[in-house]
Amino acid sequence: MLRSFLKSRSTSHDPFQQRWAYFQGNLSTIPAAISLVESVPEDKLRDVTFLERELIPSLGLNNENLWEQPAELSKFFGTGLHIFQYPNQFACYLVWLAEHGKDSQTYVEIGSRWGGTFIVTCEWLRRIGAPLQSAIAIDPIGETPMINLYGQHLTRQHIDYQFILASDACPDTTALWDALKTLEAATFTASEFTDQYPSVDGSFLGIGALKRNAV
Ligand SMILES: C[S@@+](CC[C@H](N)C(=O)[O-])C[C@H]1O[C@@H](n2cnc3c(N)ncnc32)[C@H](O)[C@@H]1O
Repeated sequence: MLRSFLKSRSTSHDPFQQRWAYFQGNLSTIPAAISLVESVPEDKLRDVTFLERELIPSLGLNNENLWEQPAELSKFFGTGLHIFQYPNQFACYLVWLAEHGKDSQTYVEIGSRWGGTFIVTCEWLRRIGAPLQSAIAIDPIGETPMINLYGQHLTRQHIDYQFILASDACPDTTALWDALKTLEAATFTASEFTDQYPSVDGSFLGIGALKRNAV
C-alpha cells in the first residue's frame, strides 16, 4: 500500500506515466471498439470514405504530436483507442487487407504504441473472415493496458498472443521498414499507405504491409 502510494507520488508528474494511468482507467473502450468493427456491414468493407470519415475517427484518435495531425479531426483526438495513424492512410490499409488479407493467419505490428491500430487490425482481419491464429505486437514502450487487455481477449478466442518489448535492433521504424522491404523482396510484396493531409505542414506517419507471394 505504502509502496504503491509512494510510486504514484513519484510518477504523478511524469506525463508518460499519467497517460499509462489514464489508459488503465479507460479500458471499456476495447469491448466497444470490438463491437463496432464486428458490426461493419459487408457493403462498407471496401468503402474508403466510410472507413476514413466515420469508422476510424469514431474508434478514437491519439492526441500526441498534434502538430502532425490535421486540425479538422480535433474533436476525435484523445478519445477511444487513441489510434495514431492518419485515418486516410489507415482506411486504405483496411481496404487493402479486405482485398489481400483474407487468408492471414498471423499479424505482426511493429510499433503498436497504445494498441489502437493493433486492436483494429486484428478485429478487422477477423471481420473479413481471416483465420487469425497468432497476433504479435512490438513496441519499445512496453505492453500498455489496452494491449494487455486485448491480448487476454485474443487468448480467450484461442488466438496466440504475444507482446515483444523491442526496438533496440533498429531505433528507427523507417530504417527497419526499408530493410525488411529490401531483404524480403523475393518472398513478400510490399504495399505502403502514406497519404498526407494538406492541412498539416510536413510529412508524417505511414503504414507498410508485406504480403507473402504465392508459391
Ligand atoms: C506513430 S506510433 C504508431 C502507433 C500505432 N501503430 C497506432 O497507430 O495506434 C509509432 C510507434 O512505433 C514505435 N517504434 C519506434 N521505433 C520502433 C522500432 N524500431 N521497433 C518497434 N517499434 C518502434 C514507437 O515507440 C511508437 O509507439
